[in-house]
Amino acid sequence: MPVSALPSHPLARRLLLSLGLVGGTGPGCFWLGGDCDVEPERVTLDLDARPEGDTGATTAEPLVDCPTDQVGIEALAEANETYVDAAGEITLVGQDGRLCTYEYTPFTCCGYGRPYLDPAGRPLQAPTTPDGAWAAGMATPSLEGLSGAQREALARFWEHNARAEHSSVAGFHRFALELLSHGAPPRLLARAQAGAVQELHHARLCFALSGAYAGAPVGPAAMRLGRTAPLSADLVELALWTLRDGAIGETVAAFLAEQAREAATDPVVRATLAVIVRDETEHAELAWATLQWALEEGGLPVVQAVEAALRQVSPPAGREPDLAVPSHGLPAADEEVALAARCLDEVVRPVARALLDRCRLAA
Ligand SMILES: [Fe+2]
Ligand SMILES: [Fe+2]
Repeated sequence: MPVSALPSHPLARRLLLSLGLVGGTGPGCFWLGGDCDVEPERVTLDLDARPEGDTGATTAEPLVDCPTDQVGIEALAEANETYVDAAGEITLVGQDGRLCTYEYTPFTCCGYGRPYLDPAGRPLQAPTTPDGAWAAGMATPSLEGLSGAQREALARFWEHNARAEHSSVAGFHRFALELLSHGAPPRLLARAQAGAVQELHHARLCFALSGAYAGAPVGPAAMRLGRTAPLSADLVELALWTLRDGAIGETVAAFLAEQAREAATDPVVRATLAVIVRDETEHAELAWATLQWALEEGGLPVVQAVEAALRQVSPPAGREPDLAVPSHGLPAADEEVALAARCLDEVVRPVARALLDRCRLAA
């Protein structure tokens, strides 16, 4: 790619430079587009379920009808040791005796950051618990001038971010195991392990913000990871997962965090976002470098699989509409989706195009 044809967005230029992709390639050889269909999902919850170790001795009245309010549904999901990561309302679609079936749209389609995914490919996050240890020693924002509703919205938003960051700790550990299992070079493995430590710090920063806005400590409870970590079977799968979780997820995460940092005025929020922007950009670079390695190692089958996957890329469904408080890092939900779409156009697609063109020439 001649220097004059470099994409204009600074993040795209930085990623291309980090990949050594500035300096000669052919014309585009694939197109990107298509819709990201988010299928509704269903979950069945038992009115009589209780978490392990809960004898029910403190439960006042057993529920007769399935709850229809979001707080009640979330409490029921928690009793079933399930978390329903919905993008919007969770709707009751039927009650069969003591079983309640709900329908919801999953929160993420493509996702931001590198979440830990369960064997079915769904992002897995820990439930929260009133634990102040994660926020200990972290700076807290000013609450001056914020209404009660704004504080509640900010507590929800930063808790959502904190849980995603916490999930990314497991995501990076799983990623490191994958790199080991496929014989990746140490330069990638070292950066993957450093990434886990950075995500741990992000989680602590975000739990501290959430707890400050909520006026009560919050941290992650035990993460139900199961007995096995899902690892990619071959280089094609490694490349596809790296594309989705890292090259797209981490690039979009860095892009959104930078936009939020620019809009934020609270010093602690700005400092938090500055750390996240710096680290997520490094994570994006690592993901693209891993993709480059997998493309070089795997050759044409990997190139073709990644090209096919890129045709399906589109912005995720986004968060449930909520108050926007940009001064404290909370953008409007629809604005976030629009920014993610811009990131795909201005950063992800140009970088992917340059990388795949180079790999096609070499294949
Ligand atoms: Fe992060
Ligand atoms: Fe990250």
